Amino acid sequence: MLHHDAPPLLPPSIILRRATAADLPAVIEADGRAFGEHYSDERQDEIRALFDPDRHLLAEDAGEIVGIAGSYPFDVTLPGGAALPAAGVSWVSVAVTHRRRGILRALMAEQHRGFVADGLAVSLLTASEGAIYGRFGYGIATEHREVEINRRRAAFRSDVPDPGGVRQVGTPEMRRIAPEIHRRWAAQTPGALSRSDRWWDGLLADREWNRGGASALFHLAHPDGYASYRIDHATDTCRVVQMAAATDEAYIALWRTLLALDLVETVFARSLTVAEPLQFLLADPRQLRTVGLYDGMWARVLDVPAALSARRYAADVDVVLDVRDPFLDRGGRFRLRGGPDGAECVASGSGEPLVGIEMAALGSLLFGGAHAGSLARAGLLHADDPAVLRRLAAAFQGERTPQHGTEF
Ligand SMILES: CC(C)(COP(=O)(O)OP(=O)(O)OC[C@H]1O[C@@H](n2cnc3c(N)ncnc32)[C@H](O)[C@@H]1OP(=O)(O)O)[C@@H](O)C(=O)NCCC(=O)NCCS
Repeated sequence: MLHHDAPPLLPPSIILRRATAADLPAVIEADGRAFGEHYSDERQDEIRALFDPDRHLLAEDAGEIVGIAGSYPFDVTLPGGAALPAAGVSWVSVAVTHRRRGILRALMAEQHRGFVADGLAVSLLTASEGAIYGRFGYGIATEHREVEINRRRAAFRSDVPDPGGVRQVGTPEMRRIAPEIHRRWAAQTPGALSRSDRWWDGLLADREWNRGGASALFHLAHPDGYASYRIDHATDTCRVVQMAAATDEAYIALWRTLLALDLVETVFARSLTVAEPLQFLLADPRQLRTVGLYDGMWARVLDVPAALSARRYAADVDVVLDVRDPFLDRGGRFRLRGGPDGAECVASGSGEPLVGIEMAALGSLLFGGAHAGSLARAGLLHADDPAVLRRLAAAFQGERTPQHGTEF
């Protein structure tokens, strides 16, 4: 039974209900229409493998599916290394015939009440358009930086070691070794998402539709890292599809190998951070050319005390946050006391110093991606005392730029 209070704008003929396995063909059809895709049989099989009906809400009008909102279960790493269970919202669409009548809002309200009832502290998503999710309390938490490296001109600084240890491996070996390395990488990386076995299977199945005309995947393995790439022969480009390094040595060894690929002119990678170590490893950093910078994962805090007390802070902080959350009413006043070794966050009626903050801005701060000063200048965070703002900025940003690492 859904605990849904229909928002005023939702037409009375619309009902919300949980999906069943029998809905899958209609869900695929509706999703394909919304995103302009006719899914091949192969792709439908792949979707079927990941589809969990219990995690999908549907809006129905006279027996037709007119809205969908689903989610995947993830663990997400917080600064300090703790992992929190989180919902990764996905499969969101409303039929073109039924848009702008509040169906998405109703689905989001129902779905997020469910997340709260399940005790989740955080929900996450990647957005098709940037203007949709801020109103639901989501803020940009990670960024994607697309780079092109001129392989023939990119050289490492002369003092950078050449650790070696990289092997070229086939897919079965990659499937065996990569999940454990990924877990070690994720434990060190704020914002990193866990990957289920099904997720690994889908990724490494490397289906034709996902290759963009380039080769099938090649894999590089190091005891502490891996990379998968494909070669686009039309442009002599190596496209890095995934990479994870649990040590700096593995990171250097893998990049050295990728930049040693003879016959390749350009190495393209699409999910580097803005503070990527690679650019500091090159003798000429400009050979790593940024060709795109996009919002990556968005985060929304569902339980402020649980989320903020689970993370660690780069500097000591003691503030009262006044969080504004018109969408879910999960805001209020919370006293946060934290530092590198521990943190406590509890509901608090009063206290000083006070920092006013929008829920979406808290999502942007959660993994240490956004700078509190930028959010303040944008009017999403307010502290009367500039010293408090400085302390907040120093506390929330850590030594690693967040990266989510898995698309969903
Ligand atoms: C995005 C989409 C799901 C919105 O559904 P919808 O039912 O029309 O949304 P609602 O009517 O509930 O709108 C809720 C609010 O979001 C706003 N909104 C919805 N879609 C928006 C968009 N694409 N850009 C800007 N604002 C948008 C509405 O104006 C409304 O604003 P309000 O809260 O100020 O009243 C729908 O347009 C769609 O399916 N698009 C194509 C697929 C897609 O992009 N899905 C999202 C994947 S991440």
